[in-house]
Amino acid sequence: MTYTGLHTTLFAAPNMKEAQRFYSDWGLRKIKGSRSHSVFETKNGSRVELKTPDSTDLPPPAVPDMYFREMVWGVSSKGHLRTIKMELSKDREVLEDKDGTIHCLDPNGIGLGFRVWRPRVKFDGARTKINSYDKVERIDEISTFYGEARPIRMGHIGFVLPDLKSAETFYRDRLGFWLSDRYAGGAAIFLRCAAKSQHHNLFMIWSADGNKRYHHTAFEVRDIHEVFGGGVAFNKKGWKTEVGPGRHPISSAYFWYFKSPCGGAIEYFTDSDYVTEAWKPHNYRINRFSEWHLPDGIRQEKEDKIRPSMSAAGKH
Ligand SMILES: [Fe+2]
Repeated sequence: MTYTGLHTTLFAAPNMKEAQRFYSDWGLRKIKGSRSHSVFETKNGSRVELKTPDSTDLPPPAVPDMYFREMVWGVSSKGHLRTIKMELSKDREVLEDKDGTIHCLDPNGIGLGFRVWRPRVKFDGARTKINSYDKVERIDEISTFYGEARPIRMGHIGFVLPDLKSAETFYRDRLGFWLSDRYAGGAAIFLRCAAKSQHHNLFMIWSADGNKRYHHTAFEVRDIHEVFGGGVAFNKKGWKTEVGPGRHPISSAYFWYFKSPCGGAIEYFTDSDYVTEAWKPHNYRINRFSEWHLPDGIRQEKEDKIRPSMSAAGKH
C-alpha cells in the first residue's frame, strides 16, 4: 500500500474568472478553463479543480460556507484502491467513478477521494546552485532570479476541525497515514501519507469554536529564491499576503501564504524536513508557527532604485 501524494484539490469557485486568474498567476498550467469548470496543474501533475457552486456533481461542503469540497490522494495501484474501498465501505458510502476514482466523506464531513496516480517525474525541478564556504556549486555564473513561481507539486493541505480524535484514528488506523508531530493536548496533528515523506501532507488544527474551516494548501517550489521571487511576483499581480514570508520550526520549511478567493490560504514552501520510519513524533507544548515571519509580505522596491548607502560605501 503506497500513497503517491495529494493529487487533486476541488473547490466551488464563487467567481470563476477571478479563480482562474488566481491559479494562473500562482504559476499553475491551465489544462481546462470553461465558465463552469477549470483544471490547473503543477509540474508533477497534481491538480486544482474548480467548479461553479451550482454544479450538480460537486461533493457537499463540510459546512455551508466552505468552498473547499474534496481532496483526492494518489495511490500506487488498483489493489491499494480496492483495499481502501473495502475498508471505507464498512461504515460509509463510497462512490466510484468510471475511471475508478473513489469518493467519500471523512469523520468531519470533509470530501475525500482516492485514485491511482503516478506523479510525473520528468520536469525542471532542480534548485538553484548554492555557494557556501564549504561548497561552491556555482562558478562564473550568476544565480537564478525567479520572475514568477512554477510550483512542482501540492505538498500538504490543512483544516481547522472540531473532532481531531476521530480524524486521527481514521487517517492513521484505517488509511495507514503516519503521525509526524502533534501539539500537546490535541491542539493539532501533522500527518504524512507515507513512512518516507516530507514532514506532513495533512494537518489538522483543533477548532476551539467548533466551526469547520479549510485552512490552506501548500505548493512546493524549487528553492528559497522561488518562494521569495514567486511571492513578490504574485503580490505584484494584486494578490494579498495572508502571512509571510517566514520559516516554520515544524518541518523547517520556508513559507509565504496568500489569501485565496476560494477561501482559506495558499502557500509557497520549500526545504521541508524529510522523515522516515526512524522519525519520532514530538508533543509540542507551545505554538511553533514560525521561527520568524513578516506579517504582511515584502515591501516592493522600485526596480531602478539604488540605495546610496549600500552602493557608495562598498564596505563589508
Ligand atoms: Fe503549510
